[in-house]
Amino acid sequence: MKGIGGLAQARGEADMHRQRELLDQADRYLAGGGLGLFVLPPEVNLVIAEGRGSRVTDVAGREFIDYHLGSGPALLGHGHPAITGAVEGQLPKGSTYYFLNEHVLQLARRLVQAVPCAEQVHFAGSGTEATFFALRVARAHTGRTKILKFEGGWHGMHDYALWGTVPAQASDYPRARPDSQGIPDTIGDEVLVAPFNDAERAVSLIERHAGELAAVLVEPLQRVLVPQPGFLEALRDATRRLGIVLIFDEIVTGFRIAWGGAQERYGVVPDVATYGKAMAGGFPMACLAGRADILAPLDGRRTERSRMAWASGTLNGNPISAAAGVAALEVLSQPGVYEQLHRIGGRLRRGIVEAGRRHGFPTQALGEDAVFGVRFMDEEAPRSWIALLAHDRALGLRWGMECLKRGLLVNPNEKFYISLAHTDEDVDCTLQICGDAFGACARA
Ligand SMILES: Cc1ncc(COP(=O)(O)O)c(C=O)c1O
Repeated sequence: MKGIGGLAQARGEADMHRQRELLDQADRYLAGGGLGLFVLPPEVNLVIAEGRGSRVTDVAGREFIDYHLGSGPALLGHGHPAITGAVEGQLPKGSTYYFLNEHVLQLARRLVQAVPCAEQVHFAGSGTEATFFALRVARAHTGRTKILKFEGGWHGMHDYALWGTVPAQASDYPRARPDSQGIPDTIGDEVLVAPFNDAERAVSLIERHAGELAAVLVEPLQRVLVPQPGFLEALRDATRRLGIVLIFDEIVTGFRIAWGGAQERYGVVPDVATYGKAMAGGFPMACLAGRADILAPLDGRRTERSRMAWASGTLNGNPISAAAGVAALEVLSQPGVYEQLHRIGGRLRRGIVEAGRRHGFPTQALGEDAVFGVRFMDEEAPRSWIALLAHDRALGLRWGMECLKRGLLVNPNEKFYISLAHTDEDVDCTLQICGDAFGACARA
């Protein structure tokens, strides 16, 4: 498959062979052959050799414009000099101390300044840990145990998160099914699930279970579903009225859809928010940020031991990730950054929709400019996970594969992540590839 401008073209047979060998090793040594839930189909699978700016190159020498960006963290693009410089400055001084370091304090101060709900932060290792700890802290604060989450909402891999995340049909609200094997049924007694964007239903559930609900956990932009006006506000009002902790999972939206994340974009401030991905410039780190009184159970100096919420981790607050985070936030705080992300993402969204429709496909680019998902469906503004199920998944996979073959690194049926390194030339090239990919799908 010939790519545009040299994209997706292998250097030669020896490099292709090397990549095939490495993929065989992945099959042999990695459980599941990959690093997470998703493994690319064999005909497009790859081993990445390096990333620079908006592009990655695989071991076979094929170049791709990267719209996966490590599943979001590489918001500045790969190998940004401000981040590599900060990390290189710290590396010879040690990678982790467990005790305080200046980088992590700088990062904490910056987060408190940027995140509307943040009076204090607590660092964690991953988004999964951050949402898990946020729920624990909410339980410690309220003395209650149940949580409410939304169908289709993704909060990581812990046992309280994986209910009704990707169901094939509507849940038996508020009871949902676990997404994974290995999660005890009894955990489901603690997790209520409601449809996203249905304010009336959510508020009625919150009111009915108020005496036992510790937290309402929501992705304010739920994957590619934007919140309807009034939905987040209704959650805010009900939780405030009933003393329930409102947690925004901003692991995707934080520093991506606005400097102040979804809280700024949608104008609703939760009690606690979880941050990860872009916050640490592509290095492993996440955090919970929120009201000091709610985070107080983490404070062993002021809280009697039996009332504490534990949320420790060996590498939490390590100076390498923290230095990367400080450098990333410095770049993101510069004027024009979010205008640029919107402009590039907006051009792409409009261009992809136009190209798809030109080829007769009911194409939508749902979400926000800095992170959106291409879905093939008639409904232009689906509001819930169930409405989203109407999209043509098989076509999404086929189109994604055609894009991959031509030099776009995308995760089919998932999201396009935009970085500051994506240029107008990248967009031109991408739109041409997207059009060719639609052409191939139309001919098939
Ligand atoms: C909204 C959201 N929350 C939490 C997580 C979990 O984060 P991590 O993969 O760092 O555990 C993810 C991961 O994609 C996410 O998208």
